[in-house]
Amino acid sequence: MTSSDIRQKFLDFFAKRGHAVLPSASLVPKNDPSVLFNTAGMQPLVPYLMGRPHPSGNRLASAQKCVRTGDIDDVGDSRHLTFFEMLGNWSLGDYFKEDAIKWSFEFLTSKEEGLGLDPARLYVTVFEGDENAPRDLEAVEIWKQYVPENRIYFLPAENNWWSPGDNGPCGPDTEMFYDVTPDGLGDMTHEQYVAADDAGQLVEIWNDVFMEYEKQDGKVIGKLGMRNVDTGSGLERITMMVQGKSNVFEADMFAPAMNLIKESAQNYTERDARILSDHLRTALFLIADGVTPANKDQGYILRRVIRRAVMKTKILNVEANTGINILNHYINFYSAAYPEVAKKGIMDIFKAEDEKFDKTIQSGIKEFEKGTDAFTLFTTYGFPIEVTEELASAKGMTVDREAFNTQMKAHQDSSRAGAAAKFKGGLADTGEKTTQLHTAHHLLLAALQKVLGKDVHQRGSNITEERLRIDFNFDRKMTDEEKVEVERQVNEWIQTNHNVCRREMPLQEAQGIGAEMEFGAKYPDVVSIYFIEDEAGTAISKEFCGGPHVEKTEGLGTFKIQKEEAVAAGVRRIKATLS
Ligand code: GLY
Repeated sequence: MTSSDIRQKFLDFFAKRGHAVLPSASLVPKNDPSVLFNTAGMQPLVPYLMGRPHPSGNRLASAQKCVRTGDIDDVGDSRHLTFFEMLGNWSLGDYFKEDAIKWSFEFLTSKEEGLGLDPARLYVTVFEGDENAPRDLEAVEIWKQYVPENRIYFLPAENNWWSPGDNGPCGPDTEMFYDVTPDGLGDMTHEQYVAADDAGQLVEIWNDVFMEYEKQDGKVIGKLGMRNVDTGSGLERITMMVQGKSNVFEADMFAPAMNLIKESAQNYTERDARILSDHLRTALFLIADGVTPANKDQGYILRRVIRRAVMKTKILNVEANTGINILNHYINFYSAAYPEVAKKGIMDIFKAEDEKFDKTIQSGIKEFEKGTDAFTLFTTYGFPIEVTEELASAKGMTVDREAFNTQMKAHQDSSRAGAAAKFKGGLADTGEKTTQLHTAHHLLLAALQKVLGKDVHQRGSNITEERLRIDFNFDRKMTDEEKVEVERQVNEWIQTNHNVCRREMPLQEAQGIGAEMEFGAKYPDVVSIYFIEDEAGTAISKEFCGGPHVEKTEGLGTFKIQKEEAVAAGVRRIKATLS
């Protein structure tokens, strides 16, 4: 079974059980400045888990593109990845533990409709209970129908409580683990089970979260109005299991990339090859979702994965076009499921960053020649310690590893604190100011199209309480006259007081009326469109969007462009405020 067979089987399995299959949302969350990327299938669904009715119903399933950069230092082991696909099914106040567990077990083990995994290799953990919620005896009773009771283990909240961040829906979960040892581990006591997990003999393959609680500022504050199910299963891990492999890099999406490296590397190491394979795939999916290399936010992460990948090509000493060949493999492999990876221009963005980095490396080498230390070479020029060591040994010198490690540790602690603040997950900011800026964002796009031409479309966006930011395709700097005219137009629309209305309609109808879509994004069958229209009902803006928005444009205040700049070839960025 290939990974695409598995993805399709999963979606078919849940479609047959009444679930609407949703396309993957973009990796870059819409209207949620609190997280840089979708890190779980549930993230685009947070408002619905909190109670808003979903246009496609209360049973949903998807394969969602996810990026988790918190694990970046673990990449290179047998199972960690920066990009992965998460298979998930959801009940929004509909079915609960009984069906969720039954279907997880059936999908994993059924030979006809599922993956045909061996039930004798399955182990299960459930929540042991604490001051927030009781021990999950209900889940145990249900599991006992499918696995022997001595293979069900109670674990604390640290293991068996799941939430996307400090705010939002959460709950106890039950996790399924698969034994990947050649001979099988058989029955285990609690202690043996924990030790086997620590030793990597078990791999988590699915998590069913019983999401009926809410967190605020990191504390569970009580129950939600409804009982939800949120499940997540990593496609790459499942594929590795089904294909009988012991690490994800042997599964079908990675094996050809690993072979390309093996064939051309002068200096092959398994770990470096894995990191290169992982990072190039992540870079491809990020660029396909409209991210361009930059010095902060999503663009910074992209820059970092591209540069780490390029460094690995140097450390592995592969032939010049190996990176491009690997990217081409991924494009071919994924274009049926994710057509956005085959968009024009992706390679150009990659190559431009590669060249830019090459210049940095050249100046780094000059710095090295001048005697600059390994830590500065790392933080300023992105030189991994291995590269500095290689340069040093070519000159018969060595690097003081201990000094480097001490400096690195201090550096990591401070950047981790920054990253933790960035990655704080949770609900979209629905504060008054942010909501107003969302509406101004739609007006701005409409004004840009009016002034610069209809071919202008959004390539990215980010909204905070202070300002809005839009990236759009346009191949030159805007003139002062154009900026003034865009501002004037937005302010005129604000003052003539337009109404903002949300309507749900079939995707085809929305496309038929020319509603603005984000480049590269895929949409479900029923979509939500925000119209900004005058009293006569003539729309000046129609955009696919989940909100939130103000109801009327009056009261938005005065719109002002603060900055207009290039972010990549053919992509401009505007930052603007309301005052
Ligand atoms: N949302 C469930 C998980 O990511 O495991």
